[in-house]
Amino acid sequence: MRLRRRHLKDNVKVFIKRTVIFIISAFMLWCAIICIKDINNPENDKDTSGGKEINKEEYVYKEELLDLGYDVKDVELISTKISNVDVKKYLLTEKYKDISMFISSPYYKVENTMRYQKYYDKHSDYTTDNVVIYVEIGLDNEFYADPVEIANYNDVDALVNKYHKLPSKYEADDLVTLSKKYSSRGHKIKKIASEPLMKMIDAAREDGINLLVISGYRTESTQSGLYNNSVKKNGVEHALLYSAKPGYSEHQLGLAVDLNETEERFDQTKEYKWLKTNSYKYGFIERYPKGKEFITGYGYEPWHYRYLGVDLATKVFTENVTYEEYLVKHSK
Ligand code: DAL
Ligand code: ZN
Repeated sequence: MRLRRRHLKDNVKVFIKRTVIFIISAFMLWCAIICIKDINNPENDKDTSGGKEINKEEYVYKEELLDLGYDVKDVELISTKISNVDVKKYLLTEKYKDISMFISSPYYKVENTMRYQKYYDKHSDYTTDNVVIYVEIGLDNEFYADPVEIANYNDVDALVNKYHKLPSKYEADDLVTLSKKYSSRGHKIKKIASEPLMKMIDAAREDGINLLVISGYRTESTQSGLYNNSVKKNGVEHALLYSAKPGYSEHQLGLAVDLNETEERFDQTKEYKWLKTNSYKYGFIERYPKGKEFITGYGYEPWHYRYLGVDLATKVFTENVTYEEYLVKHSK
């Protein structure tokens, strides 16, 4: 009797032991299956961010890239800079022959690779670094063709250009009317820019330089009138170069002024020379400089100054770039 009970006890022990071993083995097998699945899933490889980070996952599109005609070096570079997810999304339809040069730009965005290649094919005299910057600005698209409506019109650094427009019927608030001491006809400007503007004009006078605002804030309908008159007087081509369409002017934003005269010869004056060296100290930049017409979309306007605040204006001035270029170079 006692012997049988002991035998039974032993059997139970063996059964429990085997069950535990079975459960542990099954669990380990399940873990192994999950891990293998995970490694082989390219969707898990999220470390992309504009080709700036290194791909840590196994590279799964090597063969496809080689089949497209990329050489081993290109594939190597792509694999270290662009995630599997982005390769699949943006790089498997055709070969972009200059991709390695685009990727080397600090401003490269994988989703725009096709645009860089098309733009570079048309402008092979540009450096690939500039190609990337210009495409990021939007220069591969027609001016006014597909504008973005801006939402940050209350910010001092708001970008308004031929790709970025103000909301329909936008009217700036917080405007200040300038006195006759500073303006030929009581022009207005946003309050935030008014003190710095007056300080700048006062400082210039102390240096024997006479500055006077001849245009400041404009409503959408004023801008419309100016643009239409310019078309009538000088034709569309000229109007497009020197007048923004309504909704697209920094004057309507309330942060721009024209000083003294709207003639190119203004750049021969001591007033312009003073502005060139000093305006940034008061937060103003020359917005449409000579030689950068293809970027700004406007002719040379040595009289047009845009308020950005001292910090930002100083940075743009120091880098000697247009505001468009500056924003691409410093976008997060
Ligand atoms: N003249 C500048 C471009 C404007 O109309 O805003
Ligand atoms: Zn202007």
